[in-house]
Amino acid sequence: MSVKVSKRLLDRHAVLTGAGGGIGAAVAGSYLREGAFCSVIDLPATASEEVQTLAVQYPGKVKYISANVTNSADIDRLVQEASDAFGPIHVLYNNAAIFDMAPLLESDEAMYDKMFAVNVKGAFFVMQKVLAHMVAHKTRGSVVNMASQAGRRGEALVSHYCATKAAIISYTQSAALAMAPHHIRVNGIAPGVIATPMWKHVDALFAKYENLPLGEKKKQVGLAVPLGYMGDPTDICGAAIFLASDEASYITAQTLNVDGGNVMS
Ligand SMILES: NC(=O)c1ccc[n+]([C@@H]2O[C@H](COP(=O)([O-])OP(=O)(O)OC[C@H]3O[C@@H](n4cnc5c(N)ncnc54)[C@H](O)[C@@H]3O)[C@@H](O)[C@H]2O)c1
Repeated sequence: MSVKVSKRLLDRHAVLTGAGGGIGAAVAGSYLREGAFCSVIDLPATASEEVQTLAVQYPGKVKYISANVTNSADIDRLVQEASDAFGPIHVLYNNAAIFDMAPLLESDEAMYDKMFAVNVKGAFFVMQKVLAHMVAHKTRGSVVNMASQAGRRGEALVSHYCATKAAIISYTQSAALAMAPHHIRVNGIAPGVIATPMWKHVDALFAKYENLPLGEKKKQVGLAVPLGYMGDPTDICGAAIFLASDEASYITAQTLNVDGGNVMS
């Protein structure tokens, strides 16, 4: 029996936040390969080189929108600009987030406010406004929220970030139940350790707090993965395509670990 593995998102319109680089840009590339139109959201005023390259490879299928997910007016505008470009939204890849860490007793209010503003408030209201759009347009869409293995457990040095990602797993479950009557699916992905620009920052912070040479933490976490290596952004794409596509038509409210075996839940 032959299995059709291409064009699983043919003519779907996907909105991807925080997709100027890292995992988001890799997933945008994979959605384009599967036939989707992509509205790519990130902070900078102009598209990154990665996004510009995708726009050249897939003419007429990429729209870059500069927006800050912590700003409600920006979210309204991005939904409007995206739907003006490519019509009703079928897929939301809700990915924008920031990382910071400190020992628990030093994890202050400013760090809390900053991380919860992007990772929780931003992610929730992007999801809510895109869901309202999907309901209004009856698109029977799919949302993929980016959680993390950090949301599955606590970490002494990473308390605020872990809490933001646990909140994403919880919102994924609530939104899935709220949207089930509209035939809109809401799932999450919990990556393990993936080599992206974010990890340069993560490694430098661990070096500071665990008194390690630069690069050492990244090496350690890679070796600790059961599959034996740190993931690449493209390692997330299979799950991201699957959950967005009709192949996952009976899957909702789940957060899938994509982590080389780090977490079993
Ligand atoms: N890299 C990892 O090891 C790892 C592990 C688990 C989960 N994750 C999650 O995967 C997702 C992608 O991570 P990544 O490693 O590619 O990170 P990244 O830092 O490379 O990408 C995150 C993107 O979000 C954008 N962004 C930040 N604040 C924003 C805002 N207010 N509005 C709009 N965009 C904003 C950034 O500009 C950046 O392009 C995140 O949700 C992250 O928490 C990453």
